[in-house]
Amino acid sequence: KSLKKYNTFGIDVTAKEFIEISSESELINALSNNSQKDVFILSGGSNMLLTKNLDTLVLHIAIKGITVLKETDSYVHVSVNAGENWHDFVQYCIENNYGGLENLSLIPGYVGSAPIQNIGAYGVELKDTMLHCSAIDIKTGDKHGFSNQECKFGYRNSIFKNEAKGKYIITSVVFKLSKNEHILNTSYGAIEHALTDKGITNPSIKDVSEAVIEIRKSKLPDPAEIGNSGSFFKNPVISINHFKQLQNTYPNIPSYKIDENHIKVPAGWLIEQCGFKGKRWGDAGVHKKQALVLVNYDNATGAEILSISQKIQKEIREKFDIKLETEVNII
Ligand code: EPU
Repeated sequence: KSLKKYNTFGIDVTAKEFIEISSESELINALSNNSQKDVFILSGGSNMLLTKNLDTLVLHIAIKGITVLKETDSYVHVSVNAGENWHDFVQYCIENNYGGLENLSLIPGYVGSAPIQNIGAYGVELKDTMLHCSAIDIKTGDKHGFSNQECKFGYRNSIFKNEAKGKYIITSVVFKLSKNEHILNTSYGAIEHALTDKGITNPSIKDVSEAVIEIRKSKLPDPAEIGNSGSFFKNPVISINHFKQLQNTYPNIPSYKIDENHIKVPAGWLIEQCGFKGKRWGDAGVHKKQALVLVNYDNATGAEILSISQKIQKEIREKFDIKLETEVNII
């Protein structure tokens, strides 16, 4: 089966066996009947670069459903199943006036993979509102709950990328969201600008969501039109000393302070400095408006995209002595 429409990069590779999973019991059955050695878990396919055919069983986790577990005057606990589209869930929250996820509007992918990399944008991360998530142990089929703390969230990081990697399938996620009095995060410059431009001084969660959608649409390619997986690399964290050296040569280098000794530098800026922004090799390239995003214009292979990413990593190492790590999973 071709996986082209199951990954936002639009890479045309095949799966040896493919099962669409629409309930937890189907998932447990599929795991216990699996005769193949490995199993590959496919969620929204929005954070992966497929570079070869998958010689395994592929389980597409499409379990749907949203349930309010608890509701008071000031907050709700909402449980959402792994196969719900992330942005549709955020829109459901906005429509019901549940606050906390508005800055995470328009992020591609499904709910089930959101905790794995602790999705984040415009000053907000999933970890800020997630209470816990449920998962199935791939080996035993047993159910396992993870509290927010147990997920060990960090910048684009969690237990599911480390000690629990490849061991669990997330089936649902529970969020605690605000009602009535929302604490908005509009500190990100681009959000502030978008709101001021519209003359909005007292924004609602819907206003913030709309501002985020506008900003994302202006910079990030829509996967339905141009294949991509969002930021291809993580923003690197370097030492203050290293940063000061770079500042001598590049006085305009942007940065975010992490702590007394560390600074985060936007990878998009580094990549643009190396002249890669908007470059194209056949159907593979670097997005015109955001150098951190690699794109498939039509029929690029995973190997072609990977080769561009390696070229970028090499130049960044040579020019800035910085090691760029991929954010996207290379398969
Ligand atoms: N920049 C450039 N050239 C570029 C791109 C960016 O000079 O081609 C500079 C910008 O001028 C700005 C800085 O880099 O000074 C930051 O750019 P931007 O606000 O676009 O954010 P980012 O650091 O590139 C991160 C996330 C995005 C998230 C935005 C907003 C990572 C790896 N990426 O990008 O997440 O939407 O911040 O919060 O942390 C994703 O993970 O897929 C993703 C899109």
